[in-house]
Amino acid sequence: MTDAVRHHDPAVRGFASDNYAGVHPEVLAAIALANGGHQIAYGGDDYTAHLQEVFRRHFGPRAEAFPVFNGTGANVVSLQALLPRWGAVVCAETAHINVDEGGAPEKMGGIKLLTVPTPDGKLTPELIDRQAWGWGDEHRAQPLAVSITQSTELGTLYTPEEIRAICEHAHERGMLVHVDGSRLANAAASLGVPFREFTTDAGVDVLSFGGTKNGLLLGEAVVVLNPDAVRNITFLRKTSMQLASKMRFVSAQFEALLAGDLWLRSASHANAMAKRLEAAVKDIDGVTVVRPVQANAVFAILPREVSERLQKRYRFYFWNEHTGEVRWMCAFDTTEADIDGFAAAIAEEMAR
Ligand SMILES: Cc1ncc(COP(=O)(O)O)c(C=O)c1O
Repeated sequence: MTDAVRHHDPAVRGFASDNYAGVHPEVLAAIALANGGHQIAYGGDDYTAHLQEVFRRHFGPRAEAFPVFNGTGANVVSLQALLPRWGAVVCAETAHINVDEGGAPEKMGGIKLLTVPTPDGKLTPELIDRQAWGWGDEHRAQPLAVSITQSTELGTLYTPEEIRAICEHAHERGMLVHVDGSRLANAAASLGVPFREFTTDAGVDVLSFGGTKNGLLLGEAVVVLNPDAVRNITFLRKTSMQLASKMRFVSAQFEALLAGDLWLRSASHANAMAKRLEAAVKDIDGVTVVRPVQANAVFAILPREVSERLQKRYRFYFWNEHTGEVRWMCAFDTTEADIDGFAAAIAEEMAR
């Protein structure tokens, strides 16, 4: 029983973000299970201790997970842990750390971002070299890390070989590698390989592992894959305001996600819904799917006035105001009926 009242209509669905979805019922059950009694605060609890074993099963025996509140926090803590005060990070121009974190890496972490334009949101060794230079020059922020996003902000994927090539290239130049894995589960599900094949085994040093977009109430984790590459994570997490006092409830959610196959079921489903959406809209006259659909995002261009009318029926964002490109995201709870209804609405609005 509760005095709280429901303020929203659960029948209203949208495609704006995988964060618009609610919490997976199995995750809510795990939170309830972890409730009651007293447990040591700030990560000294039994759930966080057990979580280490769960993450090690996925990422190898040297992995260590540090739960945090959100993805921006995971990125800012990870990058600070990799870099000295004079360090800089090479990243794609479209990287979330560059365009969607309000400048937090610079403001909170004091980290310079050296950005590179890319055709598809993906860095390559050649693209990294556009910014990876000037070591030893005291006038230039020192490029000492590379950050890539898997799956990318443009819904594309790196293959394990591409990540391995980036890691080798970076390491040869004395740079460390961070992966923004806000949608790492979508990537693993789409590639059909275990997480470690394109992270630990490919040479990634530290990872921001996403939970929220895959059905957690809240929670992400900094996952250290190479302990020799990072320093002072616990202090950095605290001073970056990412240390949860009741951490057991974040850790219990991750256990629900990762101990069995919930992560895979949910991410595979979201990816399949994106494919269904692509198939449903690609033959509608005037709608062009403009990027490969490799995870749970569909990017399309259609007439602006049609998008604006559609937005009155379903929430979604313009990705690029200039070109009129829109982004449609699918989540673990997107249904086939949601997709079919949305595709029908697109066809209807196009025909008006
Ligand atoms: C690529 C990427 N990284 C990180 C995040 C995490 O952001 P937040 O700080 O909102 O949890 C997001 C969320 O949209 C994202 O898309």
